[in-house]
Amino acid sequence: MAIIEVLPRRLRERIEQLGAIGRDPAGGLTRLPFAPAHVEALQRSAQMMREAGLDAGVDEFGNLIGRRAGRRDAALLAGSHLDTVPQGGIFDGALGVVAAIECAQVLHDAGRPLQHSLVVMAFADEEGHAFGVGTMSSRALVGELGRSRLAQLRDGTGRSVDEYLRARAHGLPAARVPAEVDAYVELHIEQGPVLEQMGRTVAAVESITGILRAPVVIEGRAAHAGTTSMPGRADALVGAADLVLAVRELALAERGRAVGTIGRVHVQPGATNVIPGRVDLTVELRSPEAKVLETLRGAVEDRAHKIAGLHGLKMAWGTWDHSPPVPLDPRVREAVVGAIERCGHPPLTLPSWAGHDAGVLSRYVPAGMIFVVSTGGLSHSPDERTPWDAVETGAQVLLETLLLLDEAPGMNRRLPLAYTTR
Ligand code: GLV
Ligand code: MN
Ligand code: MN
Repeated sequence: MAIIEVLPRRLRERIEQLGAIGRDPAGGLTRLPFAPAHVEALQRSAQMMREAGLDAGVDEFGNLIGRRAGRRDAALLAGSHLDTVPQGGIFDGALGVVAAIECAQVLHDAGRPLQHSLVVMAFADEEGHAFGVGTMSSRALVGELGRSRLAQLRDGTGRSVDEYLRARAHGLPAARVPAEVDAYVELHIEQGPVLEQMGRTVAAVESITGILRAPVVIEGRAAHAGTTSMPGRADALVGAADLVLAVRELALAERGRAVGTIGRVHVQPGATNVIPGRVDLTVELRSPEAKVLETLRGAVEDRAHKIAGLHGLKMAWGTWDHSPPVPLDPRVREAVVGAIERCGHPPLTLPSWAGHDAGVLSRYVPAGMIFVVSTGGLSHSPDERTPWDAVETGAQVLLETLLLLDEAPGMNRRLPLAYTTR
């Protein structure tokens, strides 16, 4: 059979087109889920899907779905997400969506049928910054976040997920992910330095890290910054600063088995001459090992309790949002490794320290991922880069993976979809 090849020029044009939506004057891209820039990216991606011969629509959780029928009922899913972190880069998420559309496009243009239906996914909220819940849209899809939890989640503007979803600002038809899924495959940038350090372009992903996130409110006493003596203060920001250092120290003590970050801090009242009375922050801990993650959580909470006592503060912890570590499916990994070799690259597998929708789906259906190199290991930054030839390689590996999986025997697995019954 003739070799089908992805088109590098179209991949680049489409990634750059999406990369122009949500430009932040402060740098990079800010495309928070359901915000106008996200809706625009969704509409633009839907147009690309239609150009690729896919039926495009949006499901009740805000996920964009492009579908092409196959001979079997079972589907192969491929994609990633369209949201970004504040001031993020143009590849995180968009690469996997554009590359999956490209695979559909070249199959369509070559008139090449598949056994499976091909479903391109663009998840709405993977980053979890806006509503505090990582991989929110894929977790909602499989019922891991119930309707009542979704109704409670609010972003910085005070709007709930439900309000955004009800508004259906995208104007696209309704669509649903099919339940019968033989595999989900996601192409993504590595977002770390390993491939570049090894002088490699592409790898299969073997596992996805566990992530714990909790909001914390620290309350002290706002008071005059001149007239209040140093010993007489209850400075919430001093407690927060100690907590930042404690998270760093305790994660470092795990010697490469864990990382910990406090990346969101809001100080009130936030005035030069007022002692901070309240700090809202989020603690995030990661490890590929469930036990390490649990131990670290306990150690951080213990230390936080001591810090609060030391500075005369109240520290209230919200519910920990937990994404457990997950191994990815060995058969999908084998297909990815086979595809990497077909594309003339040496086989390699790596773990992922970033969270991905593939981790959620892999709890129900066989899922796998392809990583391509990140220049300087940088991501979640306006300086995120991946060389265009690596983009092409990644997309071609995705296509070969889908073709290999299309030939594999059916896996008979179902997604526990949380759609309302019709
Ligand atoms: C997503 O990029 C995450 O790992 O937080
Ligand atoms: Mn991502
Ligand atoms: Mn990301």
